[in-house]
Amino acid sequence: MSKQIFEERSTVQRLKSEGAQELLSSLRGGVEYIQYRKDWDYYAQNRTQSEAPLQIILVTTTHCNLSCKMCSRNQLNSYAEEHMSMNIVNAIAEQAKELNVKSIWLTGGETLIHPEVSAMMRKLSEVGALDYWLVTNGIELTHDISEMLIDIPLTWISVSLDAATEETYKEIRGSDLSMVEKNIHTFLKLREKKKSELPLLRVSFVEMKENLHEKQTFIDKWEDVADIIDFQTLIKYKEDEVDGILDKKKKHPCGNAFRLLTVRPDGEILPCAYSRKDRTGRRSYVLSTTLKEYWNGAGYKEFLKQIQIENYSDDCKRCLKSFQSYS
Ligand SMILES: C[S@@+](CC[C@H](N)C(=O)[O-])C[C@H]1O[C@@H](n2cnc3c(N)ncnc32)[C@H](O)[C@@H]1O
Ligand code: SF4
Repeated sequence: MSKQIFEERSTVQRLKSEGAQELLSSLRGGVEYIQYRKDWDYYAQNRTQSEAPLQIILVTTTHCNLSCKMCSRNQLNSYAEEHMSMNIVNAIAEQAKELNVKSIWLTGGETLIHPEVSAMMRKLSEVGALDYWLVTNGIELTHDISEMLIDIPLTWISVSLDAATEETYKEIRGSDLSMVEKNIHTFLKLREKKKSELPLLRVSFVEMKENLHEKQTFIDKWEDVADIIDFQTLIKYKEDEVDGILDKKKKHPCGNAFRLLTVRPDGEILPCAYSRKDRTGRRSYVLSTTLKEYWNGAGYKEFLKQIQIENYSDDCKRCLKSFQSYS
């Protein structure tokens, strides 16, 4: 990997390989890809709604094979465990294609334990998006799964590690770091063998008191291996006192809801991955309300107006609190 740059983007401090975006642009549609990246920044920075969502986040499942101490699954326990059905995946794929969605982002729970993960990836690849992301804990990143992801092809695989040593990984994620690292190296060898440049590899690290001392070791370990290293800010879901949580002297702009939508495993449509309610007063599901109807609906427009005047829900406040150190 060539020279690295530190970049600060809201909650993320990013160490990236120079050339990753240029490589993606050349592999994924050139001018169209460059325009999509410009739009991605523009709509969030200007808090103006894009004509159609640029990205759809799929929470593919609420099941998981780990129980990480900082995760909302552990901290909130408010969702039933379920996998997204293929009916819902098919509806999202068809609607996203019609909307010319540029990016599909898969997260969970743990997507790689979804019983129909290959069928789901194949269906979503029909959308023809420019960017496909998978966020995974890497536990099930087996040889066969890696092969499927390379063949789709996914654009980015993001493995959440949060630690540089076995001891800290065990404390935070409760499993074996060496096994996940072995999976990542198997994936990289296979990618090389298949002479594929994609998926690019991101490794991520949510900063917590338990792992801060390992930040430099993490960089040393991954800087010549991964295409991006992300350091992310911890969201404290258990912070129950939200009044006064945000510093009134600062601005707290959030741009995500102006450029993306999220769909939960039961098909519920939400503004972003952190909002558990949309504040429009009604629940909308992708099998009965299309993404287009939701995006253009009066309820969603009102929701965006509230964000523009920084009248935030409690979920938003908790998320935005983690931005404060960078604002
Ligand atoms: C909820 S996980 C789901 C995907 C997958 N199971 C994984 O661990 O990558 C998505 C991302 O959120 C991060 N995350 C979990 N709890 C968080 C928290 N309290 N604050 C910020 N990020 C968190 C994880 O490290 C991971 O990168
Ligand atoms: S692996 Fe991901 S979804 Fe599962 S508990 Fe950990 S952070 Fe949460």
